[in-house]
Amino acid sequence: MSARQPIPLPLGPVADAQRRRLMLAGLATVGLAGCGGGDGGNPTATSPVAASPVSNSGTATAAGMSAAPPSSGVTVPLASTWPTLPLLQNTGASLGSFSASLIAAPATASFVPGIATPILAYNGGTPGPVIEAYEGDAVRIAFSNLLGQDTTVHWHGLPIPADQDGNPMDPVATGTTRNYSYTLPASSAGTYWYHPHPHGTTHEQVYKGLAGVFIVRSRTDPLAALPERIVLITDLRLDASGQIAPDTATDLANGREGDQVLVNGAHQPVDTIAPGRTERWRVFDATNGRYLRLVLDGAPMVVVAVDGSMLAAPKTVSELLLAPGQRAELVVRAPTTSGQKLVLRTLAYNRGSMVPTSPPVKLFEVTVGSGAALAPVPLPAKLPAPAPLPANLPVTQTLVLSDMGMGSGGGMGGGGMGAGSTGRFTINGKVFDPARDDITMKAGLAEEWLVRNAGMMDHPLHIHGTAFQLVASTRAGSTTDPRLNAFMDVVNLTPGEQIRLRLRIDTPGRRMFHCHILEHEAQGMMGVINVTA
Ligand code: C2O
Ligand code: CU
Repeated sequence: MSARQPIPLPLGPVADAQRRRLMLAGLATVGLAGCGGGDGGNPTATSPVAASPVSNSGTATAAGMSAAPPSSGVTVPLASTWPTLPLLQNTGASLGSFSASLIAAPATASFVPGIATPILAYNGGTPGPVIEAYEGDAVRIAFSNLLGQDTTVHWHGLPIPADQDGNPMDPVATGTTRNYSYTLPASSAGTYWYHPHPHGTTHEQVYKGLAGVFIVRSRTDPLAALPERIVLITDLRLDASGQIAPDTATDLANGREGDQVLVNGAHQPVDTIAPGRTERWRVFDATNGRYLRLVLDGAPMVVVAVDGSMLAAPKTVSELLLAPGQRAELVVRAPTTSGQKLVLRTLAYNRGSMVPTSPPVKLFEVTVGSGAALAPVPLPAKLPAPAPLPANLPVTQTLVLSDMGMGSGGGMGGGGMGAGSTGRFTINGKVFDPARDDITMKAGLAEEWLVRNAGMMDHPLHIHGTAFQLVASTRAGSTTDPRLNAFMDVVNLTPGEQIRLRLRIDTPGRRMFHCHILEHEAQGMMGVINVTA
């Protein structure tokens, strides 16, 4: 076991706090000005900037941050272009259908020139191809598993039938093909992703490369005119020979954080952007265990959607925390002067006293090109958020998340899980048992749940097949929460935090709920909701 060494940082927490204050001060004067008035921006093709020097030290100078090269492993050179992910080709013959084939198989990637790194890939690459479909589409994906081990494809966040959702109870055996088929319901437009969900080995299959973007579009999207940028964040840890390093005991305890944070599979990519261009960024935390406390240099960060749901109105924030599994949509207007930069980066985040603080990292940089500035794009004052669920529902469930081995032992030792069920990571004292229904609820009926984190570290709770409404949060005595009333499919709970959420699942079947730190999920921090007709 090799616990990750704390990485010496050029900037400590004090400097970090100072930067934050500066940022906040800047925001106060900038406000929403970057997004008001004017007519539609003219989407302009961006072109790669001149190659930046390839560096094996991984040192980035912007914002004075170090890219924190691992002490013993191989470092991925910095990218000199913007990596655009391939689209999954729709072979559907008619409008209203999306048909495609997807293959999971071992492959090799060259993160580092001259080194072939074995990975697991969807259609040969990591990240996998981008799926883009429309609300109402009949989706049919012929999935072939050539991994040499069981897998599934889980369509994270999509409100689709339980038997098509790639649950661990529905493995696709190696050497076989299964068709996933479902219709994307009305009002399901949003930002989703897909990843494996096999029993006990999800964490390994994901950190070895299996993850992809799934965008559901609406024909009445109020932001449809904005050019888009996908920002799929993963992290990678290579050993000295350039192979993906296996999980350590520390990873199993805390959730794996790779030491190189990648955007669309590339290390700190760069791009150019037309002056004043307004873009819609779809940002994904597709890591196993890394929290992304996002800040944006160069423009206000305007959030329009969290996970698969729009907010009721655009909201300007100084920072935005994405936990593993979470997504957000941002609207960003480029500065108007040639040479100015947008830099998306993270601040240090501490997710529990026993967990080493994640160092700040630079994610990517976009530099403003020359020419006349494009006019700001006015954002609608209201966005099509889901309708609020009924208030004053009785509390029907209380979930207690624990990471301290206080489980009562139900299901312990069963299941043959890849990471081993230690009994340490539990929900209501139990580790996952695929045969047990932990919760039953009625399809189409809204409920209110209490969820409490009784553990020592943050846990992001994910519920399959729906977006839930966060209605209250109590942290250290305070009941105010900036996330109030948003809909999401993953919610982070800090140690001691208690939340209330409202949810409704519309179709019957057995659904998963679990911690989206995938090492915790693998050790049993998961349960089954049996939704009855
Ligand atoms: Cu993103 Cu149950 O998963
Ligand atoms: Cu967890």
